[in-house]
Amino acid sequence: MTIPRSTRRTIFAVATLFLGAVPLSSTAQDGPSLTDIVEAWLSSPHAQRGDAAFTHWDEDGEVPPACATCHSGPGLIDFVGGDGTPPGIDHPAPTGALVDCATCHNAASAALATVTFPSGATADTLGSGTICAVCHQGRESSDSVDAAIAGAAEDAVNADLRFLNIHYRAAAATLLGGGARGGYQYDGKTYAGQFSHVPDLNTCTSCHSPHTTQVALDACTTCHKGAEDFRAIRITPTDFDADGNTAEGIHGEIATLHEALGATLQAYATEVAGTAIVYDSHAYPYFFIDSDGDGAVTEGEAIYPNRYQTWTPRLLRAAYNYQFVAKDPGGYSHNPKYLIQLLYDSLESLGAQVSVDLSGMTRP
Ligand code: HEC
Ligand code: HEC
Ligand code: HEC
Ligand code: HEC
Ligand code: HEC
Repeated sequence: MTIPRSTRRTIFAVATLFLGAVPLSSTAQDGPSLTDIVEAWLSSPHAQRGDAAFTHWDEDGEVPPACATCHSGPGLIDFVGGDGTPPGIDHPAPTGALVDCATCHNAASAALATVTFPSGATADTLGSGTICAVCHQGRESSDSVDAAIAGAAEDAVNADLRFLNIHYRAAAATLLGGGARGGYQYDGKTYAGQFSHVPDLNTCTSCHSPHTTQVALDACTTCHKGAEDFRAIRITPTDFDADGNTAEGIHGEIATLHEALGATLQAYATEVAGTAIVYDSHAYPYFFIDSDGDGAVTEGEAIYPNRYQTWTPRLLRAAYNYQFVAKDPGGYSHNPKYLIQLLYDSLESLGAQVSVDLSGMTRP
């Protein structure tokens, strides 16, 4: 959906007003012009009024508090206390509001230095990307998975269990790794913390433009020489997935392990839970009964009434991690070792019940 000219004029007017009122430390003389910034933002996903992330509540007339922080600029401003109410979300937000200039450029958002994750863990190491992490943090954690399965027998089907969805683009949970407990972290294992990378490219806003949200590849190829796209970037020599290929990007290592986890989830579901499972990345709640047992999503299978309902604790944990990795497509750049650890541990756990070949694979 394109933004009509009249709306654009309003955005320019508002942007000019607000820039006059809120001095920005970084409005350097040689910085981008206001027009460039507005155009950049207009092209970004944060400005796409027609996308599901902004239209989902149109018929309800308001965005409820549970969703408002991340799906409406005024909701975020309410959450950080920028609307004069105490921090925390305390009322629904209007529909139709985007992640606009004022969402990030108000005194409370600009001052935000600490973010709390769904696990309760906090982080104060993201600088001007702290505001990004409020929305890109997901909605579940190791802790909520543990709470859901508490006391249940590991391999017994339990009708009280339902799939827990990390939600979408939880890049900050990946970046913080063990520091946020956004993936399901198995007992007795240690997990990589915040992806340290290099000092100048450690936070959301040092890799991503806050306005287009894009990452510039030429900011990477000074060090990652010859990489033709982000997915080709590779430093670690270890062949984590044991496919014999250490020339592929680190993305390829994660992709192979992710695929192996998908196949192993299917084997476990059939052999132990007693009902075959399929995954559809586009259909909520993602895991469905594989009614015809062909291992693939067949027409009519990926519908809510056919959702998978014969969960065991072991299956739920591994499926949670499968989705955690699937829903952060930039995860290989956000914290590759954390993702490899989650996938390896999920495979190892399922391997207690079904055949999994971990020989040759390496846990970082
Ligand atoms: C912690 C922040 C957060 C909260 C709370 C949150 N969401 Fe989201 N949601 C996101 C982000 C970030 C995306 C962007 C996904 C993307 O870029 O595709 C998203 C995407 C979506 C989408 C679009 C999915 C798609 O496939 O395009 C829907 C629908 C949605 N959320 C519904 C909800 C509902 C309903 C609630 C409240 C019950 C909610 N969200 C609460 C952060 C949140
Ligand atoms: C998702 C959050 C977000 C949104 C939306 C956003 N900005 Fe920014 N903006 C930032 C961050 C973060 C910085 C960098 C601040 C820093 O590092 O000191 C920034 C920097 C700026 C700067 C300083 C110059 C520069 O590029 O560094 C200006 C001017 C600016 N923004 C204007 C705007 C305007 C106008 C809009 C709306 C069209 C807008 N911003 C939307 C987060 C945002
Ligand atoms: C108020 C919540 C909020 C804040 C703050 C926020 N985002 Fe987003 N972001 C969203 C939502 C919602 C979407 C999905 C938009 C859509 O689907 O059209 C999104 C989409 C994105 C996307 C594109 C994802 C895709 O599926 O293509 C990127 C990249 C992104 N944001 C990065 C950032 C960065 C970097 C920051 C901080 C400068 C930031 N976001 C701040 C809510 C937020
Ligand atoms: C080391 C650089 C780096 C850092 C730090 C980083 N990202 Fe990313 N991010 C990337 C790359 C590279 C991609 C993949 C971009 C592409 O394919 O165009 C990506 C992808 C994403 C996406 C998905 C975009 C899509 O097209 O679906 C989102 C959302 C996102 N990042 C948000 C964030 C947030 C929020 C933070 C901070 C918590 C962050 N990123 C930190 C490099 C980084
Ligand atoms: C100043 C040099 C430098 C720049 C610029 C740089 N990187 Fe890196 N990158 C490194 C180093 C050093 C490592 C190894 C870090 C580690 O393993 O702790 C690394 C590791 C990585 C990895 C993990 C690779 C692996 O095999 O484990 C990814 C992915 C990555 N960088 C993405 C990016 C992206 C995306 C950009 C551009 C936005 C970028 N890097 C820019 C130096 C750089």
